[in-house]
Amino acid sequence: MIEKINSLKEEIQNMVAGSAQEVEALRIKYLGKKGVITALFTDFKNLDGDSKRTLGKPLNELKTFVTEKIASLKEAAAQKPDDSVTSLDLSRTAAPMPLGTRHPLTIVRNEITAIFSRLGFTIAEGPEIEDDWHVFSALNFAEDHPARDMQDTFFISRNPDVLLRTHTSSVQTRVMERTQPPIRIICPGRVYRNEAISARAHCFFHQVEALYVDENVSFADLRQTLLYFAQEMFGPETKIRLRPSYFPFTEPSAEMDISCNLCGGKGCSFCKHTGWVEILGCGMVDPNVLDACGIDSKKYSGFALGMGVERITNLKYQVKDLRMFSENDKRFLEEFTSAH
Ligand code: DAH
Repeated sequence: MIEKINSLKEEIQNMVAGSAQEVEALRIKYLGKKGVITALFTDFKNLDGDSKRTLGKPLNELKTFVTEKIASLKEAAAQKPDDSVTSLDLSRTAAPMPLGTRHPLTIVRNEITAIFSRLGFTIAEGPEIEDDWHVFSALNFAEDHPARDMQDTFFISRNPDVLLRTHTSSVQTRVMERTQPPIRIICPGRVYRNEAISARAHCFFHQVEALYVDENVSFADLRQTLLYFAQEMFGPETKIRLRPSYFPFTEPSAEMDISCNLCGGKGCSFCKHTGWVEILGCGMVDPNVLDACGIDSKKYSGFALGMGVERITNLKYQVKDLRMFSENDKRFLEEFTSAH
């Protein structure tokens, strides 16, 4: 035991501690209930009388030694200034914190939703993982419509069909199923299509859908809403043109063009010398769709429209390659620092 006492004495002599926590850890190590020195005292009790006589004194001295050493370490730790404070140079200029920029698609989406909210539209959202009913069937898509093909739509499973929504029109379905008119919503969101990725197509992109259902909603309301939107978005000189088109869920359906915002309608390479660029699809909600969603088509009518956010962003900022939106290249993203 005497060797143990001597080696502990040396160990304690050399012990150091930087903080109050470290000192406390040392106290527990040596003097705690299960501490090294406490254990020695337990062993001591079982020694014979001779050994007790020779070892009692050094053992008690060891205990005093460690108690004093810990007390002095404790005092030193309490006086020592906190390192983190002394190394702080308050006179140094701060390293500039780089501020992130909003993504161009977010900027444009916010602009679109702000314009529609000025007309009383509120934002509605729906799931990206959808079922056949909300994306296709309720929206009057025929059984053999090509969008229902795996070539065009990402299916997660078949029977029951679980798929990634191909358009935000599915949010129309969900809102109409649970709300009676008047309905005036705008649905921004991400959509997915099974396309080869190129400068002009991607497997996901963003849309904003608008839906207005009430008594006596007419095509004139749709046209005026579109004109307001186009002029707010692209400037008061902007003209619009509606061309007949087809969508399963609207009747009649139209495609809206705006006068080319680059050449002002005179004709340039951007608008392929026509003076017009296509920006969205729209139409009067097909009565079949209203009925499928539990809205009385004899009483109510409505219009809907849907646009691609990437397309609008391209028109505003002339982004040539769709892939730039998802590559996370800071040089590209920083171009939009002053845009919001
Ligand atoms: N869902 C259509 C698409 O993805 C866009 C669209 C067109 C939405 C006409 C509409 C609409 O609500 O009325 O191409």
